[in-house]
Amino acid sequence: MIRFDFSGTTKEVIGVNGIAREDIDILAPLTKKAHESLMKARTEGNVLFYDLVEMPGVLEEVEAMASELSSSFTDVVHLGIGGSSLGPKAIFSALKGPFHNHTSSPRMFFLDNIDPEYMTSLFDMLSLKDTLFVVVSKSGATAETASQFMTALGFMRDMLGETYKNHLVFITDPNKGILRRLAGELNIRSLAIPPEVGGRFSVLTPVGLFPAALCGLDINALMSGAKKMRDRVTKGNVFENPAYLFSCVHFLGSKKGANISVLMPYSNALYDIADWYRQLWAESLGKRYSIDSKEVFTGQTPVKALGATDQHSQVQLYREGPFDKIINIMTVDRYRSDITIPDVLGDIDEFSYLASRRISELIKAEARATMASLIDAGRMTTHISLDTIDEETLGALFMFFEAATAFMGCLLKINPFDQPGVELGKHFTFSLMGRQGFSGLRKGIDSNLRTLPGMNIEI
Ligand code: PA5
Repeated sequence: MIRFDFSGTTKEVIGVNGIAREDIDILAPLTKKAHESLMKARTEGNVLFYDLVEMPGVLEEVEAMASELSSSFTDVVHLGIGGSSLGPKAIFSALKGPFHNHTSSPRMFFLDNIDPEYMTSLFDMLSLKDTLFVVVSKSGATAETASQFMTALGFMRDMLGETYKNHLVFITDPNKGILRRLAGELNIRSLAIPPEVGGRFSVLTPVGLFPAALCGLDINALMSGAKKMRDRVTKGNVFENPAYLFSCVHFLGSKKGANISVLMPYSNALYDIADWYRQLWAESLGKRYSIDSKEVFTGQTPVKALGATDQHSQVQLYREGPFDKIINIMTVDRYRSDITIPDVLGDIDEFSYLASRRISELIKAEARATMASLIDAGRMTTHISLDTIDEETLGALFMFFEAATAFMGCLLKINPFDQPGVELGKHFTFSLMGRQGFSGLRKGIDSNLRTLPGMNIEI
């Protein structure tokens, strides 16, 4: 079970900086329209993430491939970036424990970048004959993923000869793109990302499901949690729909200057969920143009924070800095393991209140204390509380945040499913790397990166 409490964003609770219930009521025509347009797009098949939980045959196909491969490899390396990587990484960190790779098999590694030092260290450490590479790219053409793949392929061809093909799985578009073509030509195992699902909404496709199944997670439970949440987040009534209410308070908050949305789980295991949310909220909502082509420069900056760690890093700012944030605190009722603090040094005042108490009691108290202190300072604060961290809860969370993001996009009247702002950077990279057809962009790059006298210093 997940409880969502938005009381800490209201005028009744935080005072003048809060949202009045009437503010949400006033939004009714907009929320109604937003709901109708989302549901219409869903019915027409243009917005598919809600219905991934019922795609026939997908779970079976993923499970069959995972069970065929999982015992053959001690290491799995996930190659991909952005939406193709953050979801599976979030599932792995939430459900497999921080030291899985030290104690269990298969070990999972997510490259998620092209840092040459990290890549060198990883490839130096791997035993290729025991490694499966899962190459994930919807388009197939992303430079980072292409270079990761080419690196792996080069090593594999040298070390494994023709058998390298057994060490690869592609997850990509079912019909288009170079990976799909290579899968056919080279006879490489592959799974499909439905064309209607964009990268950051793809965690409940084979993108998230296959790595999860490879390391023995219950993907049926993941989907059943997502399905339960889906049934809730497709309701039109904002007060019955936690995703819509989350979006409404963020939308109204942004009108009051809250340009930042912090997600702060009190759980190390959920920190990568905050990272996944950071991409989802940023790339979906940060848009220059509205759907009717007006310049709007919209979007809130998502920030990830970790409780209790960031109480000693960020909370000073959240409590006393500008009124530009909504702080979403995520807590866990039942941690999967716990420690009772031994009754040592119980005669010392500074320690005695901790003796024989559980660590979970302390972290929960710290979460409550932080929420109370933020609310005390008039800061918009929401509370998402999870019974525990398991496959079902995680599936539900993914669906919740995806629905909230899509709805927020409709409230903002922008398209949450595209990312035109990422394209120019990609094209500049192609140009710098000499890809055919992109040389004309060099002038623009040089002009943007010119240095002015007096404005650069070398020491
Ligand atoms: O959400 C998105 O669409 C992006 O973050 C993509 O996932 C990312 O750019 C990687 O794209 P691809 O999967 O095509 O390699």
